Amino acid sequence: MEDAWDAARRAASAAGISLAPLTELEDARRVTVLVDAVWGEDQLSPSLVRAFQHAGGGIYGALGDGDLVGFVLGFLGWQEGLHLHSHMLAVVPEWQSRGVGYALKLAQRAACLDAGIDEVRWTYDPLVVRNGWFNLVKLGTVGTALLPGFYGEMTDSINRGDRSDRFEVRWSLRSQRTARALTGEAAPPSPGPVVLEARGGHEAPRPAPTRARPEPGCVVEVPADHPGLRARDEALGWAWREASAEAFGACFEAGLVAVWVTREGRYLFGRREELP
Ligand SMILES: CC(C)(COP(=O)(O)OP(=O)(O)OC[C@H]1O[C@@H](n2cnc3c(N)ncnc32)[C@H](O)[C@@H]1OP(=O)(O)O)[C@@H](O)C(=O)NCCC(=O)NCCS
Repeated sequence: MEDAWDAARRAASAAGISLAPLTELEDARRVTVLVDAVWGEDQLSPSLVRAFQHAGGGIYGALGDGDLVGFVLGFLGWQEGLHLHSHMLAVVPEWQSRGVGYALKLAQRAACLDAGIDEVRWTYDPLVVRNGWFNLVKLGTVGTALLPGFYGEMTDSINRGDRSDRFEVRWSLRSQRTARALTGEAAPPSPGPVVLEARGGHEAPRPAPTRARPEPGCVVEVPADHPGLRARDEALGWAWREASAEAFGACFEAGLVAVWVTREGRYLFGRREELP
């Protein structure tokens, strides 16, 4: 297996940035400015970032053209085993979609492995399918739970007006699944019955629950672009929030985990014990 830092540095160079631990007082301020640029409001206090810096290890930055253009921040937790909880990953809009976020996650992975931490967890909105693709397919995490309304009401520019349902994902850093994802060799399981179907055109698909029972391979369809759909039709966006929570909840209750999502928004579930 390629050394984790080599993989991170290779990804960084492909994205045109360099990676650095953020340890200075000035970095704490720069992180909070970047958070404001991405979420549109003050989400993180510099003193909390400073405390994370002092505790050590949990914050990496991406430097592009001399500026801080992205960062990843996490802290340790030990519920159900020692892990890093990755709280924030952000890249400034001008640098998004160039591989910076990916390089930052690889730096986080390498730093964890150095410290003897084998698992990283975080949460994301399962209706942001691009994040789902990134987390489940490109990085090789597994969706282990739906946390309805996880953050309560949110007022930032990305989440305002929607319920903060989140998937918990777990990234097993030494697993074969992760190794395959990082080398682009992962493949989806064969799809089974569809538990929730997206009916109608791409512009305004409607949620249609089926009578299918959750079982390994089952599929939950969601809109490819829920944030866009929600901006066009708030009621339809809400209908998807409710219908998806019910379908995802049923899959997790049946003991399944989310293992894949296509770019079109087809989530696939499987048995955790059967994962490589
Ligand atoms: C999500 C985010 C951190 C990804 O970083 P990035 O540098 O843009 O992503 P990369 O270029 O490394 O691409 C990795 C994957 O991220 C996803 N992605 C890319 N741009 C994205 C965007 N603007 N929004 C959401 N996901 C995006 C894609 O799945 C991409 O995979 P692909 O290239 O095969 O399509 C970044 O877009 C961002 O800061 N978004 C806003 C804040 C946010 O949603 N943070 C995550 C939750 S805390």
